[in-house]
Amino acid sequence: MPLPSPRGPLSEALLRTVSGADDPGMLVTRSARVSTADDLLTDDDAQLALYLMYELHYGGLGPDADVLEWHPDVLAARAHLERRLEAALRQACPVQPCAPRELPRRLFDLAAGSSAPGTPSVPGFLARQATVTQVAEQLVLRSPYQLKEGDPQTWAIPRLRGRAKAALVEIQADEYGGGRPDRMHAELFARSMRSLGLDATPNAYLDHVPALSLANVNVLSMFGLHRRLRGALCGHLAAFEMTSSLPAKRVVAGMQRLGLEQDAWEFFDEHIEADAVHEQVAAHDLCGALVAAEPELVSDVLLGAWACLELDTRVAAATLTAWRSGRSALRVPVAEDLAEAVIA
Ligand SMILES: [Fe+2]
Ligand SMILES: [Fe+2]
Repeated sequence: MPLPSPRGPLSEALLRTVSGADDPGMLVTRSARVSTADDLLTDDDAQLALYLMYELHYGGLGPDADVLEWHPDVLAARAHLERRLEAALRQACPVQPCAPRELPRRLFDLAAGSSAPGTPSVPGFLARQATVTQVAEQLVLRSPYQLKEGDPQTWAIPRLRGRAKAALVEIQADEYGGGRPDRMHAELFARSMRSLGLDATPNAYLDHVPALSLANVNVLSMFGLHRRLRGALCGHLAAFEMTSSLPAKRVVAGMQRLGLEQDAWEFFDEHIEADAVHEQVAAHDLCGALVAAEPELVSDVLLGAWACLELDTRVAAATLTAWRSGRSALRVPVAEDLAEAVIA
C-alpha cells in the first residue's frame, strides 16, 4: 500500500519502522507519550499510527510487514493505545444493560434513536443537495473501511459457537459476494470510487481522511482482533446493519439525481435489500443467540452497538458542518476535477 505522511511523533516513528529506518523500540516510548488529556478519537497522530498498526494484520504495510505484524514492540505500542481507546469508549457509553432476551429490541431502539429527526444525516444531505465532489468526499471518508468491508468482522468467526457463528457466516458470505469476486461488497465499493474518477487502491487517500474517520475503523479492528471483545464486535455489526438499508436508498437517490451511472450507485443499491435482511440476522440470530449462550456479554454487545452509532454520528456532524460552511470534509480536498470530469 502507498505510505501516508506522518501526523506527529508516533506515526512518524511507525512509518520510519515500516521503512526500516528505525527500530520498533521507539514506538513503545512514543506511544506512552500520547497525551491523556486530549480526545483520543480526534488525535490525528494516534489514530493514524493505530490504523497503520492494524494494516499489518490486513493487507500488510511495507517490505517488513511479515516480521512487524507480531513484533513485541509494535504489539506493546498498539496495546497502549488500545487500552486508552477502550477505556474512553467504556467511560463515555451511557447504555444500561438489559436482560439477554430483551437485547434484540434494545439494539433496534438504539439504532432508531440514532436516526431520529434532527440527528445529522450525510445520506439525507447526499439525497437532496450534495455536489459530485461531496459524493466523492463521502466515498473517500468511507474508503478505509469499505475497501475491506467484512474483514474486521471475520476475525470473530472462530470465537463464536452454534447459532451465532452460523449467523455471522451467513452475513459474511453476502459481504464477500457469495462466491463471486465481482459481487464482493468491497469490490462494488471500489467500482463506485473508480466511476467517480477516484483511485480505488486501498489507502490511496489516507492523507485525506481525518482522525475521526480513522477512529471509526480502528474501533472495529480493535473489537475484531480481541476474542475478549467478541460481544462488542457483534453489537457493532448489528448497529451497522440496522443503520444501512434506508441510508443506502438515500445515497442511491442522490447519485441518480446527479446523473451518475450504475457503477457509482450499485454498491448502495445492493445494501438496500441485503442489509434489511442482515439487520434481522444480526439482531436475533447473531447477538440474541450470543447472549443467550453467554449472558455476561450483554453489556459488551451494547457497548459495540453504541460505539458504532456514536462514531457515525460524530463523523456525520463533522462532515455536514464542513460542507454547510463551504469547506471540504477531508483534511486535504481531493482534486475537484476528479469528480466533476465524470459528469462533464
Ligand atoms: Fe455490505
Ligand atoms: Fe450487510
